[in-house]
Amino acid sequence: VATVALTAVAAGAWVYAQAQESTVDDLDFANPLAIPPLLEPDIDADGRKTFDLTLQSGETDFLPGAQTATWGANDTYLGPTLRARRGDDVRIRVANDLAEPTTLHWHGMALPGAMDGGPHQMIDPGEIWQPHWLIDQPAATLWYHPHPHGRTADHVYRGIAGMFIIDEHDTDELALPSDYGVDDIPVIVQDKQFDGDGQLSTAEGPASLVGVLGDDILVNGTHNPHLDVADQRVRLRLLNASNARVYDFGFDDDRRFALIGSDSGLLDEPVDSTRVQLAPGERAEIIVELHPGERTTLRSYPPDLGMGFPLERTNGGHDTFDVLQLRAADQLRDAPPLPGTLASVERHRPDEAATTRTFELEGFSRINGREMDMARIDQTIPRGAVEIWEITNASNTYHNFHVHLVHFQILDIDGDPPPPELAGWKDTVFLAPGQTVRIISRFDTEPDPDAPFMYHCHILDHEDAGMMGQYTIAPPTDNNAPTDR
Ligand code: C2O
Ligand code: CU
Ligand code: CU
Repeated sequence: VATVALTAVAAGAWVYAQAQESTVDDLDFANPLAIPPLLEPDIDADGRKTFDLTLQSGETDFLPGAQTATWGANDTYLGPTLRARRGDDVRIRVANDLAEPTTLHWHGMALPGAMDGGPHQMIDPGEIWQPHWLIDQPAATLWYHPHPHGRTADHVYRGIAGMFIIDEHDTDELALPSDYGVDDIPVIVQDKQFDGDGQLSTAEGPASLVGVLGDDILVNGTHNPHLDVADQRVRLRLLNASNARVYDFGFDDDRRFALIGSDSGLLDEPVDSTRVQLAPGERAEIIVELHPGERTTLRSYPPDLGMGFPLERTNGGHDTFDVLQLRAADQLRDAPPLPGTLASVERHRPDEAATTRTFELEGFSRINGREMDMARIDQTIPRGAVEIWEITNASNTYHNFHVHLVHFQILDIDGDPPPPELAGWKDTVFLAPGQTVRIISRFDTEPDPDAPFMYHCHILDHEDAGMMGQYTIAPPTDNNAPTDR
């Protein structure tokens, strides 16, 4: 590993690591990748699926010779994968066996506000919270994580997070790899910083703009992982479940892959690519083709943060991270060709929008000049309304804007149409300093003034510091009475 000098540069309060050349940590990929188990629901006579999750603390072996104190759901670290279909009635029984209150939020899910698991749905220690809803949205890779106001960064960093996969009939018809854990692989990527005793450390680097950035990468909670593959094509469901780090995923041999899905659904058609950048909370589904006997490594290259310099480094000085080695068997099962068309994503048109709202992200903690207040509703939206939200990053660090309840489409980024990888359904969008992004979405769930939805920066330290606001859905007005959609 080459050493990189940390260079302090006087630019206001900025202190950052000067780019020298990419340094990659040397891994031998000794550990088989853990695959979070699929959680089996109880199915009652009406077909309703009930899933049981217990939030708990424990100890996990990440590093040789160390037991790390962690949190998880039904496990000591991370949680099982939930999987349900469009049209399913689901109920989740979330038991809190931790010593402090928390919540569990279904990131990307369209549901009533009281079921959302945001900061208003606290679960006290020893309590069980039982949200239920009808799944009615496109097939996608969603996820769940805690969301207690001011404590989200800590609770996620300790390890509570998991995937929630949605299937639907139309997607079943496509010949996409979909054998969970075999050719359809969850890839939950997180950076961690371990202290000398192998414990999770949250010490921030010098003048961190975004909170903790770790030098060690965990995938599904596995450090230094490899995956044995026996199929010609493998689908990776990439989830950036990190607190602050942005990844630019690609392969060490720069091989091409097909990007098939973004946060909240499949793209219209596969996008041939060599890189996909994901900020915290974002997901991408990619399909990689392998040849018998070969090895290739999923890697994260320095992301383009639009900040004129690379992401701040912490103690190890890496800016390129090996993430996961794929090891192809000597004989691979054939896979059907990749479909040319994946979904027909219905476009919202700007002229459908009743309202444009503007959001200015300022510093590390403010939206439109204000910090989050649990007692203040910032926006009220009539049910069924299509709205344009114009978000501007007016600060000198990067942010990524997430909206609960909805999946949205990006209309433009600094006035330009989004590139194909950002043209599908999204629920979280990256903003470099100075950027303005316009998104469009329909807001449609039952009105409930007591259960607001959040919008916030998904850099978890920014969210906790107050870069979050609340909106409620009100009864429809004549203008936005729900249409056939
Ligand atoms: Cu992924 Cu408000 O959260
Ligand atoms: Cu969310
Ligand atoms: Cu932010």
